[in-house]
Amino acid sequence: MILITGANGRPGSATVREFARHGTPVRALVRDPDKAGDLRALPGVEIVHGDMLWPETLESALDGVDRVLMISGAGPELLETQCTFIDAAVKAGVGHLVKFSGKDSIEGFDNERFRSSRSHEQVLRYLLASGLPWTLLRPSQFMQVYFEEVPDIVAHGELRLPLGDTTLAPVDIEDIAKVAYAVLTTPGHEGVTYPMTGPEALTMADAARHLSDAIGRPVRYRDVTSEEKQRDWLAAGYPPPRAKAFAQLFQERKRLGRSTVDLSTHERFGIEPTTFAQFARRNADVFRGAADYTVTPA
Ligand SMILES: NC(=O)c1ccc[n+]([C@@H]2O[C@H](COP(=O)([O-])OP(=O)(O)OC[C@H]3O[C@@H](n4cnc5c(N)ncnc54)[C@H](OP(=O)(O)O)[C@@H]3O)[C@@H](O)[C@H]2O)c1
Repeated sequence: MILITGANGRPGSATVREFARHGTPVRALVRDPDKAGDLRALPGVEIVHGDMLWPETLESALDGVDRVLMISGAGPELLETQCTFIDAAVKAGVGHLVKFSGKDSIEGFDNERFRSSRSHEQVLRYLLASGLPWTLLRPSQFMQVYFEEVPDIVAHGELRLPLGDTTLAPVDIEDIAKVAYAVLTTPGHEGVTYPMTGPEALTMADAARHLSDAIGRPVRYRDVTSEEKQRDWLAAGYPPPRAKAFAQLFQERKRLGRSTVDLSTHERFGIEPTTFAQFARRNADVFRGAADYTVTPA
């Protein structure tokens, strides 16, 4: 049996859907079964309830599991959550753990300087020491992160980010889910790291142009200061530590400036990379403010 954690979240639910699309049975771990509504209706999906921070809640979820895709949120509990889960997986006799991590597309980005990327590195060291066979998925910024900008796009026709003419190479979560499915259902991935970016290094002016083309309304990139953006995030209800962490991350991206495209994983699995224009068209109703969307949790 294959288990996916974080199954109510964005990459987790996309991977569960990919399993259902192939008709491959999968077990989906959720913290809150009431939020698992549409996953429950998918064929071959077994929803199990558990909290990765509480090993005693994981025993039945891990029973008979050979492979796991381990995902949890990027918040301050990432390190404890994933190390606790690794201990439970070892105890349950899991044979292969695929860790969902991250990798900035920006050249020269130092993972150890930022809390969430540093936590991923610390979990990786713990995983290597655990002796569990592992695989690492390292996607860059998700294209779906641009859903956070919907209020400004709808209200002002502006994409407001503190990035100057920095380029980023965001990747579509649907592409990542296809890779995750292949890694979890075929042999030969143990000890391998799979980095992923999208197919283009885009300035935010490029991104705004694609959004504008998709929704049929003007969208202009406005290069705001880091302080302005942090104030906007706080006004939008982001917890202060998260607004500060985002501001630091964007300052570093702006300082370094250039992204590198890495399609080696798409090519390895024969997956056509989704362009930002295709992503924007597929989600045009979201960017028009006419459909629901999910943003990064606190
Ligand atoms: N955002 C990006 O651009 C990006 C890029 C590359 C990699 N990543 C990485 O992708 C991962 C997912 O991030 P995301 O922003 O997409 O988060 P997300 O959509 O919220 O997914 C995380 C899921 O983990 C679940 N979870 C958290 N703690 C848990 C626990 N103790 N027990 C069980 N489930 C738990 C959450 O459950 P609930 O639904 O109950 O809250 C949520 O469903 C993170 O590790 C992040 O570093 C993010």
